[in-house]
Amino acid sequence: MSRQQIAGVAAGQGETHDSIGEQFRGEIENLIVQLQTALADAIRGMDERPALTKGAEAALEVLKEPLPDSGCGAQQSIEKLLEINARAAANTGGPKCFHFIIGGNTPASMAADLLATAYETVTYTWVVSPVGVQMELQALDWLKELFGLPSSMAGIMVTGATMANFVGLASARQWWGEQHGFDISETGIAGKPQMPVLTSGFVHASTLKVLALLGIGRSNVQQFCRDDFGRLDIDAMQRALEDLDGQPAVVIVNAGEVNSGEFDPVNDMINLARKHNCWVHVDGAFGLFARVSPRIAHFAEGVERADSITVDGHKWLNVPFDSGYAFVRDIGLMARAFRYSADYLSSEHDSRPTLGAIGPESSRRARSFAVWATLKAYGRAGHRRIVEHCLDIAQHFAAQVRQQDMLELMADVPLNIVAFRFNPGGLSDEELDKLNQQLGEVVIADGRFMAGTSRIGKRTIFRPAFSNWRTRNRDVEEFADVVVELGKSLL
Ligand SMILES: Cc1ncc(COP(=O)(O)O)c(C=O)c1O
Repeated sequence: MSRQQIAGVAAGQGETHDSIGEQFRGEIENLIVQLQTALADAIRGMDERPALTKGAEAALEVLKEPLPDSGCGAQQSIEKLLEINARAAANTGGPKCFHFIIGGNTPASMAADLLATAYETVTYTWVVSPVGVQMELQALDWLKELFGLPSSMAGIMVTGATMANFVGLASARQWWGEQHGFDISETGIAGKPQMPVLTSGFVHASTLKVLALLGIGRSNVQQFCRDDFGRLDIDAMQRALEDLDGQPAVVIVNAGEVNSGEFDPVNDMINLARKHNCWVHVDGAFGLFARVSPRIAHFAEGVERADSITVDGHKWLNVPFDSGYAFVRDIGLMARAFRYSADYLSSEHDSRPTLGAIGPESSRRARSFAVWATLKAYGRAGHRRIVEHCLDIAQHFAAQVRQQDMLELMADVPLNIVAFRFNPGGLSDEELDKLNQQLGEVVIADGRFMAGTSRIGKRTIFRPAFSNWRTRNRDVEEFADVVVELGKSLL
């Protein structure tokens, strides 16, 4: 088959084209028209589509086919994709998804993110995209203002809070090595002493994953807990720090625990850490947003004194996945930890910034477009309104739980998460754990809402997290009714 014929077959129209470029330019014109309707349907339908489309598993069977020899062309491929999505969509950006901690998209951020793809902006270094780099630096400056962090902190955009924790803790490890007189990014960690890492039982799974990746090891993290829930035992932490006798150590502060939204005592931990030779890392993936609203800012007071800070954008900032941010006190540590050089790359001595050399990713998309656009569109006040909207929704849902005879609140509601369980009465805690576990699966299979179970102490709970501007009072009222309805069906 000739080159022209191959290109023609790929177009799916039996036509021939002089070149792949000619074919693709033609396809793009058609796609622009096709996308106008498809995007409008996808976006407009978000409020009404169920959280999970029923029968998704069976619908996805169609994906299992061999690699086509000659494709069907863009138009048909996109039509197929839309069809598959219609039958198996997860409406995670909709108002009824309360699983994990999943934010929505503000209108401005959604549009800007689509443009980042259309422009295919590569935000590795200034030379390849001045706009990508400068917009990221500006958006990071605005985020520091939004969260009240020192303007002197360096920042970087990454895929999410896991990678932001990676940046913070890789910088911490670099600092710790230098305290001992070696450059860990050059020598590696083999044969070195163990880096002490101290935290509470609120530590997030992603932090443990990061410590595994950094060669520290998950089980080398010391968790000081005073109860089953994992609340910090600060006296025990203090004793452990005293035992270190000035040896450098890392203290991780958890600003926002995923099951109830409770915080470690931020200021007390930092005060303690400052009396010893410690790096303080704060995981504020969603909890840092407390600093956006005076109603809850006290929970995260003191974070500005930390050495490194994690926060997520795809959670409570309501920008598209994936988007997280790390802030680090000393850009030099980031540059040493993430050094990246080769003859063909940007020179380390170029005064123009190379963001790919202060973070884990080298080539990177322009996450900044969405962040800049949403902060420009809605400003400090608009984002405070999103945060406070979610706080109100959480309180409204907690009120539904209190009103329903068969629902039981399982923790205070300081933030945007409501820990509760289905409790029809007359069952032991162990029986309720089993019932709620089962109900969790039934709620997911039902598809009207997406919410998962977890544990507080020994007890199984639901932990809906409200982080999306789209969620309305009537959505959470319906959610309470659905949990009771499905719970009753299991009795
Ligand atoms: C406290 C905390 N840290 C880290 C993460 C990991 O975030 P991501 O999935 O964006 O990497 C989460 C996710 O829920 C979180 O709640």
